[in-house]
Amino acid sequence: MAGRGAFSSKIGFILAGAGSAIGLGAIWRFPYMTGQNGGAVFVLVFLACCFLIGVPVMIAEITLGRHTQRNPVGTFNLLHGGPLWKAVGALCVLSGFMIFSWYSVIAGWVVGYLWETARGTFNTVQSAEHVGEFFAAYVSHAPTVLFLHFVIIAATAGIVLRGVKEGIEALSKWLMPVLFVLLILLAIRAVTLPGAGAGLEFYLKPDFSKFSAKMLLAAMGQALFSLSIGMGTMLTYGSYLSKKEDIPGAAAWITFFEILISLIAGFAVLPAVSAMGQSFTDGPRLIFVVLPSIFALMPGGYLFGVGFYVLVIIAVLTSTVSILEVPVAYLVDERRWSRRSATLMVSAVSFVLGIPAGLSFGANDFLTRMDFFTIVSTAFGDISLSIGCLFVALFLGWVWGVRKGVAEIEAGGTRFRLAPLWSFLLRYVAPISILIVFANVIIALLR
Ligand code: PHE
Repeated sequence: MAGRGAFSSKIGFILAGAGSAIGLGAIWRFPYMTGQNGGAVFVLVFLACCFLIGVPVMIAEITLGRHTQRNPVGTFNLLHGGPLWKAVGALCVLSGFMIFSWYSVIAGWVVGYLWETARGTFNTVQSAEHVGEFFAAYVSHAPTVLFLHFVIIAATAGIVLRGVKEGIEALSKWLMPVLFVLLILLAIRAVTLPGAGAGLEFYLKPDFSKFSAKMLLAAMGQALFSLSIGMGTMLTYGSYLSKKEDIPGAAAWITFFEILISLIAGFAVLPAVSAMGQSFTDGPRLIFVVLPSIFALMPGGYLFGVGFYVLVIIAVLTSTVSILEVPVAYLVDERRWSRRSATLMVSAVSFVLGIPAGLSFGANDFLTRMDFFTIVSTAFGDISLSIGCLFVALFLGWVWGVRKGVAEIEAGGTRFRLAPLWSFLLRYVAPISILIVFANVIIALLR
C-alpha cells in the first residue's frame, strides 16, 4: 500500500516494538500489580504468561500485519471477512481508544511529578507519609489532573502529526540504556535500605496461598499489556515491516527487554515499600509515593529524580504513539481519513473518555468510590487484551493456518527452526491458558 511508511531496518523495528512495550506497564503497573496480587506467585504467573502466550502471540501479530500490510480490522477483513473477525478487529480499535484514554492520565502524573521535582517540592520530603499526603492532594485536584492528561495526549498527537515518531524512537535508543542504568541504581538503593528484607521476601518467595482467579487474570493481563499485544499494536507495527526481517527474533528481543525492565522495577519499588512502612497493596499510587522518597535518600537525588522522570516520559511517549497508531491506522486505511484528521479525532475522543478515569482519584466522590480507574483499566487492559490475544492465536493457529504463517515468517529467507514449538504454543497452550484463566474468573464471580 503506497504511502504507509516503513521501518528501514531490523533495529528500527525492534526499537519501535521495544519502545511500545517498555513504558508505564513495566515501570508503574508491574510493581503495583505485583504488590496487589501477592508478590512472587504473581511474578511467576506473569513470566509464564510472557513465554507461553506473549511470545507466540506477538510473533503471530507481527506476521499477520506484515502479510496483509494493514491494521487489525483490515487484516481480518482481508483474510476472512466473517462477522466474528470483524468484531475482533473492532475490539482492537476500541481498546486503542480506551487504553490511550486512561494511560494518558497516569502518564500525566509523571509529567506533574517531573515539574514538582524540578521546582523542589520534594526537596523537603521527610517520609513516605508526606509524599503520600502530597500525592493525594495532587491527584484529587481536577484541573491539574486534566491539564496533565491533556499535555500527554497533545504531545502524542504532536509527535504523530509532525512525523517525528521515528526521531523519538531513535532518541530512545540512546536514552533507554540510561533509564536502565538509573533503574538499576534505584534498585540498589532500595534493596539496601534498612527494612528492605520484607519487601524482597514478598517479591521473591512464592506464597502459594495467594493463588486466586483475580491474581491469574491480573498476571496474564499484565503480561499482555506490557508486551503491547492483544489490540493489534504489534500487528500494525508489523505492517510496516519489510520481508527480510526476522520476526521471531524481534519478538524474543522485545520480550526479553520488557521482562528485564519489569523485574528491575520490582526490585526498585517493593523493597522500598517495606522499608518505608508502606503497604504493598496501595495500587496505582504505589510508585508515586515510594519513588520520591527513595530519591530523597540518594546522594544527588534531585538530579536523579529529574532525570528519571524525563526518561520515563520518553519511554511513555514511545508507548502512547503506538497505542494511538491502531485507531489512526484503521481510520486512514479503512475509512480513508487523512492522517491528520484521524490523529486529531482519536486524540480528542480519548481525552474526553479519559476524564472519568482522571477524576477517580479523589476529584469526584462517586468515581473514586466505585474505583472507576481500576474498572476501566481492568476491562480495557487485562480483559480486552486477553480476548484479543485469544482470537489472534485462534485466527492464526486454526483459521488462517500456521503453515501460511510460517511461510510468511520465512518469506525473506530466515529459517524458523522453532516453528513446531510456536505452532503448539499458538494453537493449544496460549488459547487454553487464556480460557483457563477466564474460567477461573467466571467461577469465582459465580461463587
Ligand atoms: N506496553 C505498553 C506499556 O507497558 C502499553 C501498551 C499497551 C502499548 C497496549 C500498546 C498496546 O507501557
